[in-house]
Amino acid sequence: MYKIAVFASGTGSNAAELIRFFNEKNEDVKSVNNTENRSRNNTYSEVTLVVSNRHNAGVLLQASAANIPIWIVDKALWNTPAKVVSFLQKNGIDFIILAGFLWKIPLELCAAFPNKITNIHPSLLPKYGGKGMYGSRVHQAVLEACETESGITIHYVNENYDEGSIIQQIACPVLAADTVESLAKRIQTIELATYKVVINDILTNI
Ligand code: GRF
Repeated sequence: MYKIAVFASGTGSNAAELIRFFNEKNEDVKSVNNTENRSRNNTYSEVTLVVSNRHNAGVLLQASAANIPIWIVDKALWNTPAKVVSFLQKNGIDFIILAGFLWKIPLELCAAFPNKITNIHPSLLPKYGGKGMYGSRVHQAVLEACETESGITIHYVNENYDEGSIIQQIACPVLAADTVESLAKRIQTIELATYKVVINDILTNI
């Protein structure tokens, strides 16, 4: 089995959808009539760990509901990347999915999981990425710049915020009447439909 760790700091909508997609074991759901499940790979992958830097992150409720072990990291631990790498390796983690994780990934962790850490960002990188650009700040900046399109970027992770090589981008229109909330909702819908499929494709070809 291929073991996935999901790292998240916030609500966990993306994490919940990834957990649902990869961990659903209900045979009825896997029936041949279910097109989503038909597209899954033969190598069985499962989310076996949720990592967060926040004790009260919503994602922890998602992990608990799915009976997935949780690991809370603090700054002292994060500043000792060898310990982080060692914990993940001891737990047999093969692949790391960032889903709204706000801390920078240290070089040692990137090196231990080459091309095996992905992130999703709610804009068309390299636009509106980098330190401090997350959540509504991204959409606010897009609206203030009067962009006519925005979208999502799924990319491999390196030691800099939002800079690793791009795997997939999907654009969507920014409408004249858009608010931060309406744009965020349009982009979240694309994120929830896309991230799991892209990861599944990667794991199929690994
Ligand atoms: C998403 O918009 C994702 O693009 C970004 O963080 C957000 C996480 O949202 N990296 P949620 O916690 O999955 O709702």
